[in-house]
Amino acid sequence: MKALATFLVLLNYFTRCHGWICTTAPEHVAAAQVDAGNGMVVMTDKNSNAFFLSDSSWSKLGSVPLKHVTVGYAGVWGVDLNNNVYKFAAGDFFPTRGLELMQVDAGEGQVVGVTSQNSIHCLKASSASSIEEEGVLNWNTITGALMYMSCGPLGCWGVNSGQNIYFTKVSPDNCSISGWRQTDGAAVKVEVGTDGRVFVVNQSGNVYERTGISKAVPQGTGWSQITFCVSIKHVTYDLGRLWLLTNTGVILNCI
Ligand SMILES: *[C@@H]1O[C@H](CO)[C@@H](O)[C@H](O)[C@H]1NC(C)=O
Ligand SMILES: *[C@@H]1O[C@H](CO)[C@@H](O)[C@H](O)[C@H]1NC(C)=O
Repeated sequence: MKALATFLVLLNYFTRCHGWICTTAPEHVAAAQVDAGNGMVVMTDKNSNAFFLSDSSWSKLGSVPLKHVTVGYAGVWGVDLNNNVYKFAAGDFFPTRGLELMQVDAGEGQVVGVTSQNSIHCLKASSASSIEEEGVLNWNTITGALMYMSCGPLGCWGVNSGQNIYFTKVSPDNCSISGWRQTDGAAVKVEVGTDGRVFVVNQSGNVYERTGISKAVPQGTGWSQITFCVSIKHVTYDLGRLWLLTNTGVILNCI
């Protein structure tokens, strides 16, 4: 315990010198993944428990073991170890039928996700918001192949197995896309905030923010590294706060 406390103090100390000031999020079992959106922060731990942040502690979110949770305008969604997709309603996650996905993102009304074969799928906003227990989801297939995908107000970003980064606009109403465009850079994870800011993590655990994003240039113009002195596995951003998951499973909250 003392060693952990010392480590956390050092972490605070070392991260303070950068543009973002980071503190450790409330204590938790080693985290596997974290997602922030629409004012909420959700995470899964190494034991596949899902939690949400309330006051200054993590509260259990539903009873279903999940490897991945996401929160956004389209609600709270999750994926279990067998890639079954769940939606949160009335206090717990219920399974949906339609497709097995390894990652989902509850972005701008629509929900997007990728399968273990890297095919890309999108659920239009009206279906995402109205799905009830026992309902079957009609996922649209989007052309391309991705490992990870995330959407925001100006469009969707994805990374493929070759660590290439792509952008397209996606219509929340009908899931039609403007067409994938590869951007410069290499990454293993990409996350888009509710306000449209875009962050990636690369294979070395470095974090970058996309620069030059505007309505006219939604794909942005470049990458700006944010140095954190610790190796980062996952990044998510919402309402001015950056949430980082370190390789050791600690969640940092940066402003
Ligand atoms: C999809 O919706 C957008 C508006 O979000 C519209 O401009 C476009 O024409 C629609 N495409 C199809 C194929 O219905
Ligand atoms: C990750 O970032 C580091 C530091 O900028 C860079 O040296 C490395 O090439 C990057 N790796 C990838 C896969 O982009």
